[in-house]
This record gives sequence, structure tokens and C-alpha cells, in this order.
Amino acid sequence: MGMKEKIAEIHAHFSDEMQSLDSTQSLESLRVKVLGKKGELTALLRGMGQLSPEERPQAGQMINEAREKFTGMLDEKLREFKAREQEEALKKETIDVTQPCDEPAHGSAHPLTLCLNEMVDCFTGMGFEVVEGPEVELDHYNFELMNIPKNHPARDAQDTFYIDDNIVLRTHTSPMQVRYARTHQPPIKVISPGRTYRVDSDATHSPMFHQVEGLWLDTDISFTDLKGVYSDFLRCFFETNDLVVRFRPSYFPFTEPSVEVDMMFTSGPRKGKWLEISGAGEVHPNVVRNYGLDPEKYIGFAFGSGLERLTMLRYGVDDLRLFFEGDLRFLRQFN
Ligand code: DAH
Repeated sequence: MGMKEKIAEIHAHFSDEMQSLDSTQSLESLRVKVLGKKGELTALLRGMGQLSPEERPQAGQMINEAREKFTGMLDEKLREFKAREQEEALKKETIDVTQPCDEPAHGSAHPLTLCLNEMVDCFTGMGFEVVEGPEVELDHYNFELMNIPKNHPARDAQDTFYIDDNIVLRTHTSPMQVRYARTHQPPIKVISPGRTYRVDSDATHSPMFHQVEGLWLDTDISFTDLKGVYSDFLRCFFETNDLVVRFRPSYFPFTEPSVEVDMMFTSGPRKGKWLEISGAGEVHPNVVRNYGLDPEKYIGFAFGSGLERLTMLRYGVDDLRLFFEGDLRFLRQFN
């Protein structure tokens, strides 16, 4: 068989195989089979030694032409495959924006936040402003300026988180009274909500809890105003007029007289039981002095209410730890 026929034969079944190619992989193995080192066309080139010198140039040229032709055909096909693969990939990756999807989980406000917002609404409705103070507080502000002397049991290391000898995590929001009063002119009418800390932990105590401090100071704010404001607040907060409020004598170093505020529902499932709500009282003259004001001229009341306590009563929650565990089954009930 002459060179021409041999090439024609290779060409014929090369063309056949080209027809049945279905991937870049099969294409590359065909390339190796025909044009590789041990390929069919390469074998012809190797066999040229047996040809006569006259035949060689022409044979060489024919082989080279075939080689170019095959390479061209393979490259052309390769481009086709690549284009097709890319198109398929694009098709696979397209996103159908009309498809339904899983709805993202919705967050919701924490019950303490809901109740704090409620408290803020009630008090701002009565003309109080909302102010905030530092949680890391000077011992001096937390205790001394609130008329809590050095030997008072509230200063006991058991109750207070000390940062160092002079700095504590505030044990109540009361120091904000002094901070605010020292930097603002009376009349002062503020509430100050925030986190407070005590070394204490059980079903009704958490080492971190929240208080809402209140202070109304002017030249003529009496105990009567405290009774009116706090009773109105409770009716606003519990959204009912069916409750009574009583002010039971108590003791706080920073108020004189001091009271504990109790309330009782007069209807509904909790009817008839007195509930402790808050500490309060007329600001002690020593504390007014610590504000930098004359206690002969300025008088007013203060209160400090536990947010957790009010929230537990409002929603009927009986274990305060539930507020801090982050259990969604609990938290989802409030929206
Ligand atoms: N600071 C007190 C506490 O943490 C609560 C309190 C009682 C605050 C009476 C007051 C007040 O402003 O007048 O137990």
C-alpha cells in the first residue's frame, strides 16, 4: 500500500472516530492515538526510512499535511466541546428567582425589652426623660454618695462585684441620680434603666439584672406625687385600673421616709394577693446635698424598680432564669 493510501485509511477511521466523540476526554485520547508518540501517523513518519530518497520528500509532506489537518479538526472540535460545557455549566448555575425558598428565621424582642419599652412609654407619657449611666461605677457613687456608709451590709463583698478597691459593677441604678443631678439644673424628672450586678443566683435572683431608677426633684415634689406617679405607672404598665397600690414603711439609706411599693389586682386570676413591686421614698437630705443642691430648697422622690420582677408579674413567669437561658420555646411566646 502506498503512502497516500495508508494516510487515506488513517484519515477514514479518524473521521469515523471524530463522529462518535462525546467529550474532551475521548477527544484527547483520539489525539494521542493518531498524533501521539506512538500514534498511527507518527508510525508512518518513523517508517519513512524504508522509502527511497526520491519518495521521501513527498511522503513527508503528505504526512505533515495530514497532521495539520487532523490537529485542526481536533482543535475545532475541542473548541466546540468547551463552548458546550460552558453553556451547560451556566445553565446549571442559573438561579430561578421565582422558586419558593425557606423563610429566614425572624428574631423578636426579648420580654425584658418589651416590658422596658412599656415602662419607658408609661413614664415618658408623664413627662420623664430617659437617661443612662455607666455599669462599671465608682464605689464612691454607688455607695457613699447614696448615703451608704462604709460599714453598711450592702457593701459586703458577698453582694458586690469589685473590680478593685474603688471600682464596682453597680449594684443598683441609684448612682445615676447623683451623676445626673450634678450635671443638670432642677427641675429633674428622669428615669434611668439599665443593667445592675450582684453576687446572687437562684430562681428569683440573677447576678446580672435590670433596674429602672426614677427621680423627680423640684422645689415642691412631695410624697403625694410619688403615690400618684407610681400608681399611674402601674395602671399604665399592667393596662388595667383594677389594681390597688400601697406604700409600706421601709428603710433605704438614700430616702427618708422610705417605702416599699406593693400592689394587688382586684380582678383576674391573681386577684387578692399583695405583690412587692419597688423601693421608693423622698430623697434623703444628705443625698440632695451630694447632688450639690440645697436640701432646704429642693425636695423630691426617687424609686428603684426591678425590671425582671415587673416582667415576671406582667407575663406570669415564675423563674427569672428563663429570661437569660435563650431558650427559643420560651422566648417565642411573647410575640
Ligand atoms: N437602690 C435600691 C435597691 O437596689 C432600690 C431603690 C429603693 C431605689 C428606693 C431608690 C429608692 O431610688 O428610692 O434595692
